[in-house]
Amino acid sequence: EDFTGYPRGLVRLHPGRWLFPTKYTKFGDKIFNFKFRSSDVVVMTYPKCGTTWTQEIIWNMVNNPDLNHPSAQLPVMARSPFLDFDMLLPDFTPGESNPILENLFKKCETIDADGGVAVELAKSLPNPRVIKVHMPCTLMPPSMLDTCKVVYVVRNPKDVIISYHHHSRIISLHGFIGKFEDFVQYFVNDDLVYGPYWLHVKEAWERRDHPNMHIIFFEDMKANPLAEIKKLNTFLNINLTEAQLENIAKYTSFKEMKERFGEGEMEVGFFNSEIYKREGGFFRKGETGDWKGKFTPELEAKVDDWIKKNMSTIGVNFKYN
Ligand code: A3P
Repeated sequence: EDFTGYPRGLVRLHPGRWLFPTKYTKFGDKIFNFKFRSSDVVVMTYPKCGTTWTQEIIWNMVNNPDLNHPSAQLPVMARSPFLDFDMLLPDFTPGESNPILENLFKKCETIDADGGVAVELAKSLPNPRVIKVHMPCTLMPPSMLDTCKVVYVVRNPKDVIISYHHHSRIISLHGFIGKFEDFVQYFVNDDLVYGPYWLHVKEAWERRDHPNMHIIFFEDMKANPLAEIKKLNTFLNINLTEAQLENIAKYTSFKEMKERFGEGEMEVGFFNSEIYKREGGFFRKGETGDWKGKFTPELEAKVDDWIKKNMSTIGVNFKYN
Protein backbone atom coordinates (compact mmCIF):
# COMPACT_ATOMS: atom_id res chain seq x y z
CA GLU A 1 0.00 0.00 0.00
CA ASP A 2 1.18 3.51 -0.66
CA PHE A 3 -1.24 5.38 1.58
CA THR A 4 1.47 7.04 3.61
CA GLY A 5 3.22 8.27 0.54
CA TYR A 6 5.86 5.58 0.55
CA PRO A 7 5.41 4.14 -2.90
CA ARG A 8 8.67 2.28 -2.41
CA GLY A 9 6.84 0.05 -0.01
CA LEU A 10 6.58 -0.53 3.68
CA VAL A 11 7.70 -3.27 5.98
CA ARG A 12 6.18 -4.22 9.29
CA LEU A 13 8.40 -5.72 11.96
CA HIS A 14 7.26 -8.23 14.52
CA PRO A 15 7.08 -8.00 17.43
CA GLY A 16 6.15 -4.38 17.93
CA ARG A 17 4.37 -3.98 14.61
CA TRP A 18 6.80 -1.20 13.74
CA LEU A 19 6.12 0.20 10.30
CA PHE A 20 9.05 1.37 8.17
CA PRO A 21 9.89 1.96 4.55
CA THR A 22 11.23 -1.29 3.06
CA LYS A 23 14.70 0.21 3.08
CA TYR A 24 14.74 -0.52 6.78
CA THR A 25 15.90 -3.96 5.70
CA LYS A 26 19.01 -2.32 4.25
CA PHE A 27 19.73 0.24 6.96
CA GLY A 28 18.23 -1.26 10.13
CA ASP A 29 21.38 -3.25 10.92
CA LYS A 30 23.65 -0.26 10.43
CA ILE A 31 21.61 1.63 13.00
CA PHE A 32 21.35 -1.31 15.39
CA ASN A 33 25.12 -1.75 15.23
CA PHE A 34 26.04 1.93 15.23
CA LYS A 35 28.99 2.69 17.53
CA PHE A 36 28.03 5.39 19.96
CA ARG A 37 30.66 7.35 21.85
CA SER A 38 30.39 8.30 25.51
CA SER A 39 30.19 12.00 24.62
CA ASP A 40 27.22 11.51 22.25
CA VAL A 41 23.80 12.93 22.94
CA VAL A 42 20.97 11.16 21.14
CA VAL A 43 17.76 13.08 20.50
CA MET A 44 15.10 10.43 20.12
CA THR A 45 11.48 11.09 19.19
CA TYR A 46 8.41 9.88 17.41
CA PRO A 47 8.15 12.29 14.42
CA LYS A 48 6.79 15.79 15.04
CA CYS A 49 7.36 15.85 18.78
CA GLY A 50 9.90 18.70 18.74
CA THR A 51 12.99 16.90 17.44
CA THR A 52 14.51 19.80 15.51
CA TRP A 53 13.93 22.25 18.33
CA THR A 54 15.61 19.94 20.84
CA GLN A 55 18.49 19.18 18.44
CA GLU A 56 19.08 22.89 17.99
CA ILE A 57 19.00 23.50 21.75
CA ILE A 58 21.38 20.65 22.56
CA TRP A 59 23.74 21.16 19.62
CA ASN A 60 24.23 24.76 20.69
CA MET A 61 24.52 23.88 24.36
CA VAL A 62 27.32 21.40 23.76
CA ASN A 63 29.04 22.95 20.73
CA ASN A 64 28.17 26.60 20.68
CA PRO A 65 27.42 27.95 24.16
CA ASP A 66 28.55 31.46 23.19
CA LEU A 67 26.70 31.39 19.88
CA ASN A 68 29.77 32.16 17.82
CA HIS A 69 30.59 28.77 16.25
CA PRO A 70 31.44 29.07 12.54
CA SER A 71 29.39 25.96 11.67
CA ALA A 72 26.26 27.10 13.46
CA GLN A 73 24.75 28.26 10.19
CA LEU A 74 25.00 24.85 8.55
CA PRO A 75 21.72 22.99 8.11
CA VAL A 76 20.82 21.19 11.30
CA MET A 77 20.99 17.87 9.46
CA ALA A 78 24.63 18.49 8.60
CA ARG A 79 25.57 19.36 12.19
CA SER A 80 23.32 16.86 13.89
CA PRO A 81 22.78 13.85 11.64
CA PHE A 82 19.48 12.01 11.37
CA LEU A 83 20.77 8.47 11.68
CA ASP A 84 17.79 6.69 10.14
CA PHE A 85 17.34 9.23 7.35
CA ASP A 86 18.61 6.99 4.55
CA MET A 87 15.79 4.53 4.82
CA LEU A 88 13.33 7.31 4.03
CA LEU A 89 15.06 8.39 0.85
CA PRO A 90 14.45 7.14 -2.66
CA ASP A 91 17.10 4.88 -4.12
CA PHE A 92 19.84 6.39 -6.15
CA THR A 93 22.96 5.05 -7.74
CA PRO A 94 26.13 5.81 -5.81
CA GLY A 95 28.06 8.58 -7.50
CA GLU A 96 25.04 9.76 -9.41
CA SER A 97 24.07 13.36 -8.88
CA ASN A 98 21.22 13.67 -6.42
CA PRO A 99 20.05 17.24 -5.84
CA ILE A 100 18.32 16.50 -2.57
CA LEU A 101 21.35 14.90 -0.99
CA GLU A 102 23.74 17.34 -2.54
CA ASN A 103 21.82 20.21 -1.06
CA LEU A 104 21.59 18.64 2.33
CA PHE A 105 25.13 17.48 2.57
CA LYS A 106 26.97 19.81 0.25
CA LYS A 107 29.19 20.99 3.08
CA CYS A 108 30.02 17.46 4.15
CA GLU A 109 32.78 15.58 2.44
CA THR A 110 31.86 12.01 3.21
CA ILE A 111 29.08 10.78 1.01
CA ASP A 112 28.93 7.04 0.77
CA ALA A 113 25.48 6.27 -0.49
CA ASP A 114 25.68 2.58 0.09
CA GLY A 115 26.82 2.80 3.68
CA GLY A 116 24.14 5.36 4.36
CA VAL A 117 24.78 9.07 4.00
CA ALA A 118 23.61 9.88 7.50
CA VAL A 119 25.52 7.06 9.19
CA GLU A 120 28.70 8.05 7.38
CA LEU A 121 28.17 11.68 8.26
CA ALA A 122 27.67 10.75 11.92
CA LYS A 123 30.87 8.70 11.90
CA SER A 124 32.81 11.61 10.44
CA LEU A 125 31.74 14.21 13.00
CA PRO A 126 33.96 15.27 15.91
CA ASN A 127 32.84 15.01 19.54
CA PRO A 128 30.51 15.92 21.02
CA ARG A 129 27.95 14.62 18.53
CA VAL A 130 24.23 15.28 18.74
CA ILE A 131 22.46 12.52 16.85
CA LYS A 132 18.81 12.44 15.88
CA VAL A 133 16.81 9.23 15.62
CA HIS A 134 13.15 8.43 15.17
CA MET A 135 13.90 4.79 15.86
CA PRO A 136 12.35 3.40 19.03
CA CYS A 137 14.58 2.26 21.91
CA THR A 138 14.45 -1.45 21.11
CA LEU A 139 15.74 -0.97 17.56
CA MET A 140 18.77 0.97 18.73
CA PRO A 141 21.98 -0.70 19.92
CA PRO A 142 21.23 -2.41 23.25
CA SER A 143 24.34 -0.78 24.75
CA MET A 144 23.31 2.76 23.74
CA LEU A 145 21.89 3.84 27.09
CA ASP A 146 24.88 2.56 28.99
CA THR A 147 27.22 4.34 26.57
CA CYS A 148 25.82 7.81 26.00
CA LYS A 149 23.04 10.19 26.95
CA VAL A 150 19.59 10.01 25.40
CA VAL A 151 17.02 12.79 25.39
CA TYR A 152 13.56 11.57 24.47
CA VAL A 153 10.95 14.20 23.56
CA VAL A 154 7.26 13.43 23.89
CA ARG A 155 4.31 15.50 22.70
CA ASN A 156 0.61 15.02 23.21
CA PRO A 157 -0.76 12.80 20.43
CA LYS A 158 -3.46 15.23 19.29
CA ASP A 159 -0.94 17.91 18.38
CA VAL A 160 1.31 15.21 16.91
CA ILE A 161 -1.50 14.08 14.60
CA ILE A 162 -2.04 17.64 13.35
CA SER A 163 1.66 18.26 12.89
CA TYR A 164 2.35 14.87 11.25
CA HIS A 165 -0.59 15.33 8.90
CA HIS A 166 0.79 18.68 7.79
CA HIS A 167 4.26 17.18 7.42
CA SER A 168 2.98 14.23 5.39
CA ARG A 169 1.22 16.55 2.97
CA ILE A 170 3.86 19.18 2.62
CA ILE A 171 6.81 16.90 2.07
CA SER A 172 6.67 15.55 -1.44
CA LEU A 173 8.40 12.32 -0.40
CA HIS A 174 5.39 11.44 1.75
CA GLY A 175 2.90 13.06 -0.59
CA PHE A 176 -0.12 12.22 1.49
CA ILE A 177 -3.18 13.19 -0.51
CA GLY A 178 -5.94 11.45 1.42
CA LYS A 179 -8.49 13.04 3.68
CA PHE A 180 -7.66 14.20 7.19
CA GLU A 181 -10.03 11.60 8.63
CA ASP A 182 -8.13 8.87 6.78
CA PHE A 183 -4.89 10.15 8.22
CA VAL A 184 -6.33 10.03 11.73
CA GLN A 185 -7.50 6.49 11.09
CA TYR A 186 -4.02 5.47 9.91
CA PHE A 187 -2.54 7.06 13.00
CA VAL A 188 -4.77 5.25 15.47
CA ASN A 189 -4.33 1.99 13.53
CA ASP A 190 -0.52 2.28 13.81
CA ASP A 191 -0.36 2.46 10.03
CA LEU A 192 2.10 5.34 9.77
CA VAL A 193 5.85 5.12 9.53
CA TYR A 194 7.56 4.96 12.97
CA GLY A 195 4.34 3.83 14.61
CA PRO A 196 2.96 2.51 16.88
CA TYR A 197 3.07 5.88 18.62
CA TRP A 198 2.25 4.44 22.08
CA LEU A 199 4.85 1.74 21.95
CA HIS A 200 7.44 4.30 20.88
CA VAL A 201 6.63 6.41 23.95
CA LYS A 202 6.30 3.39 26.23
CA GLU A 203 9.73 2.03 25.41
CA ALA A 204 11.33 5.33 26.40
CA TRP A 205 9.09 5.88 29.40
CA GLU A 206 10.01 2.48 30.81
CA ARG A 207 13.65 3.57 30.73
CA ARG A 208 13.01 6.94 32.36
CA ASP A 209 14.88 6.06 35.56
CA HIS A 210 18.07 5.15 33.74
CA PRO A 211 20.64 7.84 34.62
CA ASN A 212 21.40 8.37 30.93
CA MET A 213 17.75 8.87 29.92
CA HIS A 214 16.11 12.27 30.10
CA ILE A 215 12.53 12.80 29.00
CA ILE A 216 11.20 16.19 27.93
CA PHE A 217 7.60 17.08 27.24
CA PHE A 218 7.12 19.43 24.28
CA GLU A 219 4.39 21.16 26.29
CA ASP A 220 6.74 21.90 29.20
CA MET A 221 9.40 23.20 26.87
CA LYS A 222 6.82 25.44 25.26
CA ALA A 223 5.54 26.71 28.62
CA ASN A 224 8.99 27.36 30.06
CA PRO A 225 11.89 26.73 27.70
CA LEU A 226 14.52 28.11 30.06
CA ALA A 227 13.47 25.73 32.84
CA GLU A 228 13.86 22.73 30.48
CA ILE A 229 17.18 24.06 29.19
CA LYS A 230 18.39 24.30 32.79
CA LYS A 231 17.39 20.69 33.39
CA LEU A 232 19.37 19.76 30.29
CA ASN A 233 22.35 21.66 31.64
CA THR A 234 22.26 19.43 34.71
CA PHE A 235 21.55 16.23 32.78
CA LEU A 236 24.32 16.87 30.27
CA ASN A 237 26.61 18.00 33.06
CA ILE A 238 28.01 20.91 31.08
CA ASN A 239 27.80 23.80 33.56
CA LEU A 240 26.77 26.59 31.23
CA THR A 241 26.24 29.96 32.88
CA GLU A 242 22.84 31.51 33.45
CA ALA A 243 23.54 34.03 30.68
CA GLN A 244 24.54 31.31 28.21
CA LEU A 245 21.37 29.36 28.98
CA GLU A 246 19.20 32.43 28.56
CA ASN A 247 20.83 33.26 25.25
CA ILE A 248 20.30 29.73 23.99
CA ALA A 249 16.65 29.84 25.02
CA LYS A 250 16.20 33.01 23.02
CA TYR A 251 18.22 31.72 20.05
CA THR A 252 16.07 28.57 19.86
CA SER A 253 12.67 30.25 20.21
CA PHE A 254 10.18 29.43 17.49
CA LYS A 255 10.44 32.92 16.06
CA GLU A 256 14.23 32.98 15.88
CA MET A 257 14.53 29.47 14.53
CA LYS A 258 11.93 30.12 11.86
CA GLU A 259 13.74 33.26 10.78
CA ARG A 260 17.19 31.75 10.95
CA PHE A 261 16.47 28.48 9.22
CA GLY A 262 14.35 30.06 6.56
CA GLU A 263 11.54 27.93 5.32
CA GLY A 264 12.81 25.13 3.20
CA GLU A 265 16.07 24.66 5.03
CA MET A 266 14.84 21.53 6.70
CA GLU A 267 13.94 19.44 3.73
CA VAL A 268 15.54 21.11 0.75
CA GLY A 269 13.72 20.19 -2.39
CA PHE A 270 11.01 18.24 -0.60
CA PHE A 271 8.25 20.81 -0.27
CA ASN A 272 4.87 20.91 -1.92
CA SER A 273 4.87 24.65 -2.51
CA GLU A 274 1.11 25.10 -2.76
CA ILE A 275 0.36 23.67 0.67
CA TYR A 276 3.46 25.39 1.97
CA LYS A 277 2.21 28.81 0.86
CA ARG A 278 -1.28 28.19 2.15
CA GLU A 279 -0.60 26.46 5.45
CA GLY A 280 2.99 27.10 6.39
CA GLY A 281 6.19 25.16 6.11
CA PHE A 282 8.22 23.10 8.54
CA PHE A 283 7.96 25.79 11.22
CA ARG A 284 4.20 25.71 11.07
CA LYS A 285 2.92 26.98 14.44
CA GLY A 286 5.01 25.49 17.21
CA GLU A 287 2.17 25.62 19.70
CA THR A 288 0.40 23.42 22.18
CA GLY A 289 -3.32 22.91 21.67
CA ASP A 290 -3.40 23.77 17.99
CA TRP A 291 -5.40 20.56 17.50
CA LYS A 292 -8.47 22.29 18.93
CA GLY A 293 -11.19 22.82 16.40
CA LYS A 294 -9.41 20.64 13.84
CA PHE A 295 -11.20 17.33 14.59
CA THR A 296 -14.87 16.76 13.92
CA PRO A 297 -16.74 15.59 17.05
CA GLU A 298 -16.73 12.02 15.65
CA LEU A 299 -13.01 12.07 14.98
CA GLU A 300 -12.28 13.58 18.34
CA ALA A 301 -14.33 10.87 20.04
CA LYS A 302 -12.34 8.26 18.13
CA VAL A 303 -9.02 9.78 19.16
CA ASP A 304 -10.16 10.21 22.77
CA ASP A 305 -11.18 6.56 22.89
CA TRP A 306 -7.85 5.50 21.50
CA ILE A 307 -6.01 7.69 24.01
CA LYS A 308 -8.04 6.31 26.90
CA LYS A 309 -7.40 2.74 25.85
CA ASN A 310 -3.66 3.26 25.51
CA MET A 311 -3.01 5.64 28.39
CA SER A 312 -3.72 2.94 30.93
CA THR A 313 -0.91 0.81 29.51
CA ILE A 314 1.64 3.59 29.95
CA GLY A 315 0.66 6.11 32.59
CA VAL A 316 2.19 9.17 30.93
CA ASN A 317 0.17 12.30 31.58
CA PHE A 318 0.05 14.61 28.61
CA LYS A 319 -0.96 18.22 28.59
CA TYR A 320 -3.32 19.05 25.75
CA ASN A 321 -3.70 22.81 26.26
P1 A3P B 1 3.82 22.22 14.46
O1 A3P B 1 3.58 21.47 13.19
O2 A3P B 1 2.76 21.94 15.47
O3 A3P B 1 4.04 23.67 14.23
P2 A3P B 1 9.89 17.77 14.58
O4 A3P B 1 11.11 18.61 14.60
O5 A3P B 1 9.92 16.63 15.54
O6 A3P B 1 9.50 17.37 13.19
O7 A3P B 1 8.69 18.67 15.15
C1 A3P B 1 8.17 19.72 14.39
C2 A3P B 1 7.22 20.52 15.26
O8 A3P B 1 7.99 21.29 16.21
C3 A3P B 1 6.42 21.52 14.45
O9 A3P B 1 5.18 21.65 15.13
C4 A3P B 1 7.29 22.76 14.57
O10 A3P B 1 6.64 23.97 14.30
C5 A3P B 1 7.69 22.66 16.04
N1 A3P B 1 8.86 23.47 16.38
C6 A3P B 1 10.06 23.52 15.73
N2 A3P B 1 10.88 24.41 16.32
C7 A3P B 1 10.20 24.94 17.36
C8 A3P B 1 10.51 25.93 18.36
N3 A3P B 1 11.69 26.53 18.39
N4 A3P B 1 9.55 26.21 19.28
C9 A3P B 1 8.35 25.59 19.26
N5 A3P B 1 7.99 24.64 18.34
C10 A3P B 1 8.90 24.33 17.41
